[in-house]
Amino acid sequence: MIITRRFKFSAAHLYRDPDLTPEENRARFGACYSEYGHGHNYVLDVSVRGAVDPRTGMIVNLKDLKQVVQERVIARYDHKHLNFEVEDFRGTLPTTEALVLRIWDLLDGRIPGCDLAKIRLYEHDELFAEYAGQPA
Ligand code: NI
Repeated sequence: MIITRRFKFSAAHLYRDPDLTPEENRARFGACYSEYGHGHNYVLDVSVRGAVDPRTGMIVNLKDLKQVVQERVIARYDHKHLNFEVEDFRGTLPTTEALVLRIWDLLDGRIPGCDLAKIRLYEHDELFAEYAGQPA
């Protein structure tokens, strides 16, 4: 059984390769290149897997799930500039894919009583990345 809880946070980022000229950066990254950045209202779907507890009828206490994601992910990224205010992306661009991998590592093994099944992160309505861990 898998259950998914949706979370939201807003953050800024920019894509820029310091070794490229502004023209080359613009050619590679398009509108995502700028010196200052732009914001996204990210939508994060956290899916967990486990057995349904016959006593509670649940696979996870959603209060626990919410607290862990809030403390480890939302508080870390919400209203932050991901390039400058967060350590996680020093040396790498805060792409949707990079965020998903980082969020997986922040949550994997941290949700009481169940396993992390999948992380899906929407940068906007038409773009998301998802990760379900390395195949065993
Ligand atoms: Ni962007």
